[in-house]
Amino acid sequence: MDLVVTLENLVEELKERLSKADTPEALEDLRVDVLGRKGRLAQIISHLPALPPEDRPVVGQAANRVKERCAALFRERHSALLAAREADALTRFDPTLPGRAPWRGSLHPVTLITEEICGIFTGMGFEVVSGPEVENDYYNFEALNMPPEHPARDMQDTLYITEKVLMRTHTSPVQVRTMATRAAPLAVIVPGKVYRRDSDLTHTPMFHQIEGLMVDNGITMAHLRGTLTAFVRAVFGFRTQVRFRPSFFPFTEPSAEVDISCCLCGGKGRHKDESCRVCKGTGWVEILGCGMVDPAVFSAVNYPDRVSGFAFGLGVERVAMLKYGIGDLRMFFENDVRFLRQFA
Ligand code: PHE
Repeated sequence: MDLVVTLENLVEELKERLSKADTPEALEDLRVDVLGRKGRLAQIISHLPALPPEDRPVVGQAANRVKERCAALFRERHSALLAAREADALTRFDPTLPGRAPWRGSLHPVTLITEEICGIFTGMGFEVVSGPEVENDYYNFEALNMPPEHPARDMQDTLYITEKVLMRTHTSPVQVRTMATRAAPLAVIVPGKVYRRDSDLTHTPMFHQIEGLMVDNGITMAHLRGTLTAFVRAVFGFRTQVRFRPSFFPFTEPSAEVDISCCLCGGKGRHKDESCRVCKGTGWVEILGCGMVDPAVFSAVNYPDRVSGFAFGLGVERVAMLKYGIGDLRMFFENDVRFLRQFA
C-alpha cells in the first residue's frame, strides 16, 4: 500500500511544481517529467507487477485516479497561463498607433479617361459598344469608302495578318459593324485599342481611340458641333474654346479636325514668358477628327437615303496628356508605379 501513498504524494508534489511553471514551455517540460512515457507516474506504475496479485487492482485504480487528477491540473494551469499571456499582451497593445496602410492600386490614366469620356457620352444618351481588334479589310477600309488602292490607306501604316485580315488601324470599322446589324436611329460610342506600324517619340504601335456615331433623320453638323463642344467642356472645363478646321477623311463629308484652346497657356500661346510648349505658341491643340457620315458608308450598310449622321474619333492618350499635362507618350506604357500612383 506504500505505492498508493507514493501516488497520492505525486499529486501534492505536482501542485507545488505547477505553481512554479510560469510559461507554457516550462509547463510542457513538467508534463513530460510527470506524465511522460518515462515520467514519474510511469516509474511508479512499473512496480505494479512486483506486488501481490490481490493488491494490484487497488493500486491500479489509484494510479488511474492520480493520472486523471494530474491531467486536469495541467489543463487548468495551461489555460491560466494562456489567459495571463493574452492579458499581458493587451496591456502593451496601443490601439492609438497608426496602422500599416495597405498598398493601394490605381486605375491607369488611359482607363480613367476612357471611363470619364464614355460617362459623358452615355450621359447624353449614347450607348457603349465594341468590336474586334483583329479586323477584316472590308470593315477597316472598304466599307469606309477606301477601296483597294485608295491612297488614303497609306495614311495609316497597317499591320497585316494576312492579305485580307489586319489589326484595326482605327475604331471606325465599328461604325460599319454597328450599322450593319442595327437600324437608325442610333447613338454609340466605341472605346478600344488600335494598331499602326509606327513607333517613335510621339507614336506607339498600339494606342486607344474612342469613336462616336450618331445617325437619325435630320442630323446636321450643328448637332456634331454642339455634342463635341459639350464633351470638350466637360473634360477640359467650361471656358475651353472649340474650333473646327476643314479636313479630309474618306468616310465623312464634310470632314473637320477639332482644336481646343490650349489647356496649358489658356490659348494665349505663351506660358511663363516663353512660347507655350504644348500648343507650340499657336494657342490651339488638335484633339479629334470628325465629320458627317459619307453617303458611300450608308450605302455599304444599306441605310435609307433619308438618314444622316455624324462621326468622330479621338485619341485617348492624347486627351490624357492634355488633361493631366503628361509630356511623354512613353509614360503610358512603361507602367512605372511612381507615375501610376499619381492617379490613385
Ligand atoms: N478614324 C479616324 C482616325 O483614326 C478618325 C475619325 C473618326 C474621323 C470618325 C472622322 C470620323 O484618324
